[in-house]
Amino acid sequence: MAAVTVRHISKSFGETIVLRDFDDVFGDGEFITLLGPSGCGKTTMLRIIAGFEKPTSGELYLDDRLVSGGKTFVPPEKRGIGMVFQSYAVWPHMNVFDNVAYPLSIRKTPKADLEASVNRALEIMHLTRYAQRFPNQLSGGQQQRVALARALVFAPRLLLLDEPVSNLDAKLRESMRFEIKEIQKKLGITVVYVTHDQTEAMAMSDRIILINCGVVQQSGTPEEIYNRPVNQFVADFLGKVEFLKGIAENGKILFPAMGGQALPYDGPRTGKVEAAIRPENFYFSPDGILRGTLETQYYLGDVDDCRVRIGDTLVRVIVNGYEYHRLQTGQAVRLGVRDMMVFADDGLLEEMLRIQT
Ligand SMILES: Nc1ncnc2c1ncn2[C@@H]1O[C@H](COP(=O)(O)OP(=O)(O)OP(=O)(O)O)[C@@H](O)[C@H]1O
Ligand SMILES: [Mg+2]
Repeated sequence: MAAVTVRHISKSFGETIVLRDFDDVFGDGEFITLLGPSGCGKTTMLRIIAGFEKPTSGELYLDDRLVSGGKTFVPPEKRGIGMVFQSYAVWPHMNVFDNVAYPLSIRKTPKADLEASVNRALEIMHLTRYAQRFPNQLSGGQQQRVALARALVFAPRLLLLDEPVSNLDAKLRESMRFEIKEIQKKLGITVVYVTHDQTEAMAMSDRIILINCGVVQQSGTPEEIYNRPVNQFVADFLGKVEFLKGIAENGKILFPAMGGQALPYDGPRTGKVEAAIRPENFYFSPDGILRGTLETQYYLGDVDDCRVRIGDTLVRVIVNGYEYHRLQTGQAVRLGVRDMMVFADDGLLEEMLRIQT
């Protein structure tokens, strides 16, 4: 059974269109991430699912139940959804136990059940020994775990998380991501997760929905989105990429700005194209097809981050850190290409991305 069905939802605030025709089904137990730049409409979509916003048009179903659409509107407290919002709030005047117990107290849960559920949520979030502390006696990460425990305590089937680890330092963020993912798997719940951090989205999601200017650009597994992006925006948003304008003809793509050098191409496109190559998909090799000059290289430990000049173009090449000792800045090099994505260069994308919200 599907957990969330979003049918052609659009949302405007006055004249401003914030979401356009969002249409998707989030499967039961699926970990979905809404990803996109700041202001693209992620929080708005989450607030619509939660019931804090009414869509301007479209319908929303939780399982088979219409909760928003037409004359129907089910308020947030009747939707049975757990949530942690961007500015997560734990109540300063309540200790950890009471904070976590809150959703159960307002539901008038019997005391024994309440205690058992709270203790379980505290245990899952590794908070048992902090039960009697007040929020001002906790670190930011511990407070964030309290907010998560409170969202989980009434065993929701659906959990909405809006940048729940954004306030944490890099190390803590990584361990929290891991914990959230473990909990989701263990409890088999559906999670809709919002972030603008692409690494986080890649690491956690079953499926990523990439949004720009309120328009869904692509929905797919991290692997699909990374390796088979549908347009240049998607290719650019996830990972690093070099865009090279060229002309596809006769089994190759010719690059005027790379001194007329060409790469073999047996795909369907012809005419003006934009090839996109990820820096890690270049490699140095004596029989590499592209000829250039190594202009700079930065040793970053695990990798060697290089710039290679080919004609009038400077391309970024990221190779194993070992290469740093083999290569001299200024030397002539040859580059092979492992993988290349090819898009039409017809100006349609630029037009689409110009949509103002
Ligand atoms: N109540 C509101 N009234 C008017 N405009 C709003 C309202 N809420 C959000 N917006 C606008 O809608 C757009 C989308 O906002 P939203 O909060 O959904 O973005 P977001 O993707 O979550 O961004 P961020 O990553 O910065 O949190 C923004 O341009 C924002 O200014
Ligand atoms: Mg937001």
